[in-house]
Amino acid sequence: MSEHDQVKTTKMDYGKDRKKAKNPLKVMDLTFRDGHQSLFATRGRTEDMIPVAERMDEVGFWAVETWGGATFDTMHRFLNEDPWERLRTLKRYIKKTPFSMLLRAQNLVGYRNYADDVARAFVDRAAANGMDVFRTFDALNDYRNFETVVSVIKECGKHFQGCICYTMTEPRLGGDVYNIDYYVNKAKDLEDMGADSICIKDMAGLIAPYDAYDLIKALKEAVKPPIHLHSHFTSGMAPMSHLKAVEAGVDIIDTCMSPYSYRTSHPAIEPLVMTLLGTNRDTGFDIKALAEINEILEAEIMPKYRHLLATNKMSVIDINVLLHQTPGGMLSNLVNQLREMDALDRIDEVYKELPRVRKDLGQIPLVTPTSQIVGIQTVNNVLFDDENERYKMITAQVKDLCYGLYGKTATPIDPDLQKKALKGYDRGEEPITCRPAEVLTPELESAQEEIKGLAKDLDDEILYAIYPVTGKKFLKWKYGVEEAPDDVKPRTLEESLAEQELIIKARKGELIERKPDEPEKGEALRTFNVFVDNEYFEVGVEEVGGVPVVAYAQPAATPAPAAAPKAKPAAAKASHTPAKPVPAPAADVDGTPLAAPMPGMIVNFEKKVGDSVNEGDTVVILEAMKMENALAAPAGGTIKAVNFESGDTVAKNDILCVIG
Ligand code: CO
Repeated sequence: MSEHDQVKTTKMDYGKDRKKAKNPLKVMDLTFRDGHQSLFATRGRTEDMIPVAERMDEVGFWAVETWGGATFDTMHRFLNEDPWERLRTLKRYIKKTPFSMLLRAQNLVGYRNYADDVARAFVDRAAANGMDVFRTFDALNDYRNFETVVSVIKECGKHFQGCICYTMTEPRLGGDVYNIDYYVNKAKDLEDMGADSICIKDMAGLIAPYDAYDLIKALKEAVKPPIHLHSHFTSGMAPMSHLKAVEAGVDIIDTCMSPYSYRTSHPAIEPLVMTLLGTNRDTGFDIKALAEINEILEAEIMPKYRHLLATNKMSVIDINVLLHQTPGGMLSNLVNQLREMDALDRIDEVYKELPRVRKDLGQIPLVTPTSQIVGIQTVNNVLFDDENERYKMITAQVKDLCYGLYGKTATPIDPDLQKKALKGYDRGEEPITCRPAEVLTPELESAQEEIKGLAKDLDDEILYAIYPVTGKKFLKWKYGVEEAPDDVKPRTLEESLAEQELIIKARKGELIERKPDEPEKGEALRTFNVFVDNEYFEVGVEEVGGVPVVAYAQPAATPAPAAAPKAKPAAAKASHTPAKPVPAPAADVDGTPLAAPMPGMIVNFEKKVGDSVNEGDTVVILEAMKMENALAAPAGGTIKAVNFESGDTVAKNDILCVIG
């Protein structure tokens, strides 16, 4: 009898009372983490999870993913929410189902390897705040980066799920680097480390159905821990791959509630439940109960996020993923970055350059943070290289990777690139071969010292240690030292519906000009940018007697045409915090200006007014798309003016400082 044989019954019930399957498929729900991370940039708020939380707890999921990945970053940076508090809040509603988080191993929930003391404290506090399953991955599949966090997960008595990032260099599973043997050997390594379960993490939706079948079969034969498949819908193959994985005996599958499914997210739960109904892999889930949850999500929650969904495409799949083996999120980041730099027409060059950069960097898997590292370096190469020189602007993260700070790459890094990247590198020009965290000095105590007076507990201190610039900003909001800006505040369902109404009107060309007898803008007025195709409108919404009303709508200034030289891109569109007005330095201060080559956030200035610099010295660190770029002095001399400070958002061509 094969795994999926039908159980012959005449009476089939949707409900929970139906006959229990012999080997029910276990399901983890991703709605509260990867679902909204994939579909609307991780902007899901805790208050929008609560309305369905108790019902979700009744479904019978193996676990619900509630944290990790980009949530920690996005929550404190864009939502003015304490990430730790989300765990404690959701635990009050979800009491039976274990919580799962995505842990980037030694990168924790950030984008670089942190020192062991921060890693230990983070895992310990995550467990204390309610985390049960630690789905752990390393972007290079270098399990030396697991050692510290796994020892704490085990000490806390929690579930250690070891991931193998699924990646390929060929159109299908195979080739010299990423073949079945590679994955089986990695699974054996994880079993030896004491993994309670093993996950194939297919972050780009690359796994093809028959490859999934062969791979899961091979893993089930080679190792004992349960096998879990995580795949994204992006390319359209995931539901088929899920089914073949079920046939091959996979133990656990990841899905989302249907409003949070498909596109770059995950297959929905309902079709899977129906597919397996009555078979010996029947999940046992009550479809009616799932439908009730979906109704709440559709009516009360999704309208608040509709403006964040990409709606410019008819197709729900992205065939670029099949053509370029590139994660969907990475592609959209690349497109955004090119758009911000008025260089969207160069996307084909980026597609061509990307596999070259990846090969130079040791054929690393493309997953956070390596997808950003490879992606941003590729864009830098396309925009700044010329026929005489490749890798003209190497990001700090590529230098770290070349040094060995992320771990061992699948194949060796191109020696010429490695040499160039490490020239003058502050840790040394000779790359390391040891476990990366061994060269990192403890970080927690100095972070605690720096944030003294503002941080109130260890959770605050860890947040600051992982995100020093935005973390500090958040703690100021949290403790009322500074008022949080409007754009980090939640929007209500009514505000969203009012905005939707307006978009419909705008589409019909019925937007009415402001009338003279309209009320003055009051204190409760909040403005929203409403995007309708390529135009956008500034909309004021004000609450009057409990119900928000649309107070005014006006077309916002159209961005300057892309062809205009040195045109400043519409800052309101590109950046989250409005850029501060530039104190027109070039007019008053003579000298050579250092202009921002791309929009981004100032991490810090390495030099201050009065410092002398040589041409090529690093003056300022600019973070763009989460990668740090060291900007060098265009000329030697003395720093005459510094126009921004740490944490400021800058537009392309903003004058950062002047050297005279
Ligand atoms: Co994912």
